[in-house]
Amino acid sequence: MRQKVIIGNWKMNNDKKETEDLLLKLSKINCKKEIKVKVSPSYVNLESAVKILENSPIEVVAQNMHYEEQGAYTGEISYKMLKCINVNSVIIGHSERRMIFSENDDIIKRKINTALNNEMDVIICFGESLEDRNKKKHIEIISKQLDVIISDLKINQWKQIILAYEPIWAIGTGVNATPKQAQEIHKHVRAEIAIAFNKSLADSVPILYGGSLKPNNSEEIFSKPDIDGGLIGGASLSFEDFNSIIKSIDKK
Ligand code: 13P
Repeated sequence: MRQKVIIGNWKMNNDKKETEDLLLKLSKINCKKEIKVKVSPSYVNLESAVKILENSPIEVVAQNMHYEEQGAYTGEISYKMLKCINVNSVIIGHSERRMIFSENDDIIKRKINTALNNEMDVIICFGESLEDRNKKKHIEIISKQLDVIISDLKINQWKQIILAYEPIWAIGTGVNATPKQAQEIHKHVRAEIAIAFNKSLADSVPILYGGSLKPNNSEEIFSKPDIDGGLIGGASLSFEDFNSIIKSIDKK
């Protein structure tokens, strides 16, 4: 059975106190072993998040990192800095990084390589724009993005990888992909991994959906066979909503 995963991406939200209050509430929830819960606070709150969640199975994830180990990169953070505060997972390729911060395929690829080569787990995001979907090019675009992500991967690196399909038009808009639309992409991605590697590996990779996931749509979206959980923005800022989404994956 594939790992079920729920990740809260808090983006540039929550100051120190808000972060700690939310983490304290989350640290008390009982989640089943087969459900992996992760949260991704801002850089400045990562260290306190690790401390607060010390005795909880919830894991702390960075929202970004640089591909170099150190050097003259003002404002950037390296994998070494993350690892020395016990943050061992990172989100890479989020569409906000691609679009607002001009991260291209080359940058994303380098970041993925650096993370994987330094024993970090990686949540790799991809997804089409509304224009791509309206032109019915979404499958083609997803295949291209996926190709960049997986082309040089080695089989043994897949255990460090979680994929996250996040259609850009669904992020923060309140318009989620329908369960059928998301399932179509997830199934396609799994099929491509099976062709590039093998079916049993493809069947083992967790593929999450992200984009306006809320307590009122998560159960139906998670019920689809190739959807293994969610990467949640807005709703993960509310303890009640996030907890309710965590509970809904349990019904899968
Ligand atoms: P929303 O859940 O706010 O749409 O954000 C999704 C997302 O970008 C998670 O990474």
